[in-house]
Amino acid sequence: MFKYHFQDFYFKKAKKEGYKARSAFKLEEIQEKFHIFTKNTKTILDIWCAPGSWIQYAVAQLRKNNISDAKIIGVDLKEVNLNLPWVKTYVADITDKENIKKILAENNIEKLDVIQSDMAPNTIGVKDVDAMRLFGLIESMKWIFTDILKPDGKIVIKVFMGPGFEEFIKEMKGLFGGTHIKTLKPKSCRKESKEIYLIKF
Ligand SMILES: C[S@@+](CC[C@H](N)C(=O)[O-])C[C@H]1O[C@@H](n2cnc3c(N)ncnc32)[C@H](O)[C@@H]1O
Repeated sequence: MFKYHFQDFYFKKAKKEGYKARSAFKLEEIQEKFHIFTKNTKTILDIWCAPGSWIQYAVAQLRKNNISDAKIIGVDLKEVNLNLPWVKTYVADITDKENIKKILAENNIEKLDVIQSDMAPNTIGVKDVDAMRLFGLIESMKWIFTDILKPDGKIVIKVFMGPGFEEFIKEMKGLFGGTHIKTLKPKSCRKESKEIYLIKF
């Protein structure tokens, strides 16, 4: 019963506010706590972006900050239809490094202000195995964090608590410094879910 009301609340809220998914409210909570989007945010890469609610939210934040030009690139295996300024979306596999590099080069993007990643790889329902698969995927896209993020750039990335989680946090702290890495489980995540967001701010 509670589960129904909980999901229904964010679903209705998303519909009312014109968001394509209720995931937008997770990014909203992260923004309120960590100020990912600032007056200087102009280049954003959204990996695993469909149906596009995080991109919608990012555009709203940039507008709020009176940004006049920006580049927001979204990548997903599924097609995304958004009619928004600054946004280009691509059907591509995020693990295809050469293609992602090509997309960024095509858009004259060398360095990013924000990388947002709300991944949900196909799961098999065995939580530990799913968590391990997810960290395997993260491993294949780690170059995005290390090679193309500005030194003061921000990262929001969904991970799962389970095997590999502690090691990943440790590694990110090693890369970016412990004081710049935090985790948050937004209120709009289901309580029983193992998902949690790592933020580099
Ligand atoms: C939870 S959804 C993202 C929701 C999005 N943040 C939003 O707010 O609308 C996760 C997405 O990951 C995509 N995906 C899964 N594997 C992928 C891969 N290897 N490359 C790119 N996208 C992938 C799925 O197609 C799915 O649309």
